[in-house]
Amino acid sequence: MENYKLTEPRYEAMKYRRCGRSGLLLPEISLGFWHNFGAEADPEKCRFIVETAFDNGITCFDLANNYGPPYGSAEETFGRIYHASLRPHRDEIIVTTKAGHDMWPGPYGEWGSRKNLMASLDQSLRRMRLDYVDIFYSHRPDPQTPLEETMQTLVDIVRQGKALYVGISKYPPEMAARAYAYLREAHVPCLVYQGRYNMLERGHEDAILPQAAEAGVGYVAFSPLAQGLLTDRYLNGIPEDSRMRHSKFLNESVLTPELLTQLRAWNEEAKAKGFTLAQYALRWILRRPEVASVIIGASSVEQLKNNLQAIR
Ligand SMILES: NC(=O)c1ccc[n+]([C@@H]2O[C@H](COP(=O)([O-])OP(=O)(O)OC[C@H]3O[C@@H](n4cnc5c(N)ncnc54)[C@H](OP(=O)(O)O)[C@@H]3O)[C@@H](O)[C@H]2O)c1
Repeated sequence: MENYKLTEPRYEAMKYRRCGRSGLLLPEISLGFWHNFGAEADPEKCRFIVETAFDNGITCFDLANNYGPPYGSAEETFGRIYHASLRPHRDEIIVTTKAGHDMWPGPYGEWGSRKNLMASLDQSLRRMRLDYVDIFYSHRPDPQTPLEETMQTLVDIVRQGKALYVGISKYPPEMAARAYAYLREAHVPCLVYQGRYNMLERGHEDAILPQAAEAGVGYVAFSPLAQGLLTDRYLNGIPEDSRMRHSKFLNESVLTPELLTQLRAWNEEAKAKGFTLAQYALRWILRRPEVASVIIGASSVEQLKNNLQAIR
């Protein structure tokens, strides 16, 4: 692969927000690797998306151990792109990864044990060929493992220098409160809560967002476009190359006539304000001051560029 060519100015078009009560600024838009960066994805297209993102001030790349398919392959893709293009810019980017969902067979391949988290992060670092990640997340709450074990592991990971900051994802409010307290007392404050929040899924508005703000924890919204529903993708049928056709995570049954009516109404509202539905949906999330960043997915550079115009 050719060396990445800088295109300046890189940082003027992006806005950055402080993540909770921390020193860290995050771009209003981050790029996620859950879909579109697995082993079957076109490597050149992946590289083009990542480079375009960075060139537009997206400094935060969100990964997890099991993003692919197959599991681990999105981290490998990121590692390849990082070493081909972004390595001279390591101190300008935030790389995150997570552990907690199913990753490898047997009793230690998932959840929140010390055994799982430590091993998984070491694997992630090897796949990405990095010395450390900027943010390491507990990817989901574990109802069986004592919360203290999971939190102490996050503390130890920071002490080992394998992550600079830690976060939690999808924790219910009462567990989040205990996690914030534990980490604060251990002097490794929780940097960030990562949750699903978009115009169609507003459950976090009343409890999780204010709670995070109160605790000094930044909130980062994932699936801000409801996996593509909050775009023009499905307004006139289901395209063959869409996530709904190819991923088990977005089922055709969600596309009810009622939902389509709602999406079309929002699309008209967006147009009247001079935005696409996707831009409108991202701006809707970013109206909340608790939100530090929205993590978008993109299957093309065009989608990415369209979404970047949300913050023009
Ligand atoms: N913590 C967690 O448990 C968790 C869970 C889920 C996600 N995440 C993170 O959040 C990231 C984003 O999630 P997501 O991919 O579901 O986000 P999303 O932004 O809601 O959906 C992305 C999908 O929407 C479509 N899209 C995006 N921009 C578009 C545009 N301008 N016009 C038309 N269609 C557009 C594309 O679908 P097509 O592929 O159909 O083109 C794209 O793949 C993930 O990569 C991951 O990093 C975290």
